[in-house]
Amino acid sequence: MKSVLEVLQSTSAYFAKAGVESPRLNIEHLLAHVLGKSKRMDLYLEFDRPLSERELGPLRDLVRRRAQGEPLQHLLGTVEFLGRTFRSDPRALIPRPETELLAEKILSRFPQPPARVLDVGTGSGILALTLAAQWPEAEVHAVDISESALALAKENALALNLESRVSFHQGSLLEPVTGVFQCLVANLPYVPAGEIAALSREVQRDPVLALDGGPDGTDLIRPLLLSARVHLQGLLALEIGHAQSAPLAVALAEAGYREISQESDYNNRNRFLFAVYG
Ligand SMILES: C[S@@+](CC[C@H](N)C(=O)[O-])C[C@H]1O[C@@H](n2cnc3c(N)ncnc32)[C@H](O)[C@@H]1O
Repeated sequence: MKSVLEVLQSTSAYFAKAGVESPRLNIEHLLAHVLGKSKRMDLYLEFDRPLSERELGPLRDLVRRRAQGEPLQHLLGTVEFLGRTFRSDPRALIPRPETELLAEKILSRFPQPPARVLDVGTGSGILALTLAAQWPEAEVHAVDISESALALAKENALALNLESRVSFHQGSLLEPVTGVFQCLVANLPYVPAGEIAALSREVQRDPVLALDGGPDGTDLIRPLLLSARVHLQGLLALEIGHAQSAPLAVALAEAGYREISQESDYNNRNRFLFAVYG
């Protein structure tokens, strides 16, 4: 029988050969998942524990799928986002750590919660649901064009007991919403179409509808910042590709927004735009 440590070591080597990034971290997460441990660090207390065939069977399947490029988050079925657990599967983009930074930046800009909040392109619902949880008095709306992404977002709302706090709407950009919002957040597709084929095999498992931003990546963001003016009296917060920061800041100024700021992600690249309208 193989021990926990032996499985971690042999699978790390296998993952490294198969081109899996952070091989040791990946097998630690998968093994902790199969053993029902809430924290992978718990494995460190059980390095000598022998693993039974009943445990190794499901692990082998997950290891094979990970080596073939299935994202870790899809195999685990969940992802952590600002301290909450969200379901994650191929119906919507896997939430990224940068988007946690966006949520933190938005929260820090409102000493008092805004009355109405809108998340455009909600995907798995992480932004709308995080803001709803942090701002219990706010009325939160979320839009996505994808029916399957919205189904996942609604499952996440139920799992977090936030289903009465967020109204989900299917449609394009601002078409399905009415009224005025004091906070409008959007992490819309921003990958230039020609760059999608070069993305990692894991990112290619995200829905193309969540990635494809047209020729220069701004096909959805530019119309959003124009149409948002009808619905916004407050903060617009955008996650964007770093090459788009400067041209979109110009577009915001031309559209009459003020207090425009370009802000950076963990890699010091400008990935967020904030602006005020109304
Ligand atoms: C980059 S993903 C972001 C998902 C989520 N907000 C997040 O941060 O993880 C972009 C989302 O925008 C949605 N989308 C694409 N085109 C759209 C449109 N015209 N109107 C509304 N949503 C759209 C996609 O279905 C996808 O869920």
